[in-house]
Amino acid sequence: MSDGGAVQTYLEPALHPVASEGAAEPVADPQTVIVLDFGGQYAQLIARRIRELNVYSMLLPHDTPWEEIARRRPVGIILSGGPASVYDDDAPQADPRIWEGSVPVLGICYGMQLMAHQLGGRVAPAERREYGPATIHAAPGEPLLVGLPAAAAVWMSHGDSILEPPPGFRALASSESTPYAAMANDHGLMGLQFHPEVVHTPQGRQILANFALRIAGARGDWTPAGFIGATVAAIRADVGAGQVICALSGGVDSAVAATLVHRAIGERLTCVYVDTGLMRRRESELLRITFEQNLGMRLRMVDARDRFLHRLVGVTDPEQKRRIIGDEFIRVFEEEAERLGPIEFLVQGTLYPDVIESKTAESKAAAKIKTHHNVGGLPANLRFRLIEPLRHLFKDEERRVGTEIGLPEAMTQRQQFPGPGLAIRVIGEVTASRLETLRDADWIVLDEIKAAGLYQPLWQSFAILTPVDTVGVMGDGRTYANVVAVRAVTSEDGMTADWARLPYEVLARISARIVNEVPGVNRVVYDISSKPPATIEWE
Ligand code: XMP
Repeated sequence: MSDGGAVQTYLEPALHPVASEGAAEPVADPQTVIVLDFGGQYAQLIARRIRELNVYSMLLPHDTPWEEIARRRPVGIILSGGPASVYDDDAPQADPRIWEGSVPVLGICYGMQLMAHQLGGRVAPAERREYGPATIHAAPGEPLLVGLPAAAAVWMSHGDSILEPPPGFRALASSESTPYAAMANDHGLMGLQFHPEVVHTPQGRQILANFALRIAGARGDWTPAGFIGATVAAIRADVGAGQVICALSGGVDSAVAATLVHRAIGERLTCVYVDTGLMRRRESELLRITFEQNLGMRLRMVDARDRFLHRLVGVTDPEQKRRIIGDEFIRVFEEEAERLGPIEFLVQGTLYPDVIESKTAESKAAAKIKTHHNVGGLPANLRFRLIEPLRHLFKDEERRVGTEIGLPEAMTQRQQFPGPGLAIRVIGEVTASRLETLRDADWIVLDEIKAAGLYQPLWQSFAILTPVDTVGVMGDGRTYANVVAVRAVTSEDGMTADWARLPYEVLARISARIVNEVPGVNRVVYDISSKPPATIEWE
């Protein structure tokens, strides 16, 4: 999930119908290696490895029709591994036209077995899965294996294996367990029984580079600078003389997306920042300095703090908070858009994982726990065409683009922040004074985490204001005041998370400062729960 906060969370579901009516997708047309996804856990990893070679790579479902593949004019195709056996009744297939040889194809593990099976080789059904390290011996002079030592360590994880390659194929490498650890024909089809994308195959990067750069002939020019140039040109062409609006949330996604669009069309982009009053301390100020002062963008800051607070009076249920905030956000945004006159386009900071995740069962399951992307109805007249300049990027790539285009680190390296903001970190009713208490405590947490150099390694670090009062002593007097909880987690993607083993000294400083500096708080606790079973946010 991205951190586009309010923008992403509230507008995306609402605008979906518009998107399917033919949304603008002004993205450049880079040289592409397509990864056909056969359900292996490594398919995404393959795409990332290819991108690390500065070659654009994207996932498509394994059964994507050839027309759909060809439309993207790939320079190469990689078939991922997968858990199936080619002998399963419902074994996943690929469109057989990919074997015709117009584009080089690399099959990995299941992808290779499928290639062998469909092209008339003999594949042995698995008796058991081979799993773990192995050594391959590569034949000399094979382009796919150039640069490998005579004996190379690889990572095997496969069920079926190849007894006899299809006609016209030769072995490129053997291992102890198979004479066909790698195979190829003379027409651009090749396969690997092992996984070049994992770190346990030390020469894997070399092999993938051999495929993408040497065999498929990709230029390797998909760099942040190249991406910016091509994307800016594409946005310019697509938007023409149109007017564009973007809701800045304070998160990385909307920041980078807006900056790209601004570079393309300048003054015709208006950014709207809705100050919900649910932001962290100095958030609005940082936004104004970055976008208006430093980047020279047209920025409208809407002070909607009272409106949000008013609607949250007496509300304690987390899901109701989300609904109200989402709904109010759309209202405010719509009013602003109307005030600005006719606008055709809306910028969204959708990232590649959002695009993939929206299709997976996993995110559907997650959505049942918290309605992150499931807020409120759409006013019928909010009919923009979408500009999603980041929809092909992973988070780290987005951050690199952000840096390259001139955004400060304080903006590109930010941790995730939820759309409903501090409202879901004030447990119970949200009031102006409780928000202020939380903002003070949260500021101290971030200050100390940054001072200790821990901000970036952590996925998130923040404070929660609990509704619990406990007894304390301050000076000579008894206090009866709030408990603040501190949460810091490490995570790859927010789907699972581990509580961070923060140094005691850091925790001690955070605790001492909060109790001393934040009125109304006399106790600090550290949350030592992982996700699952706990979620990252408390509400
Ligand atoms: P949980 O609490 O579900 O959070 O473990 C996973 C990630 O999602 C963020 N989060 C949200 N983001 N709207 C958002 O835009 C929301 O309603 C929301 N709730 C949680 C959370 O901060 C974490 O990064």
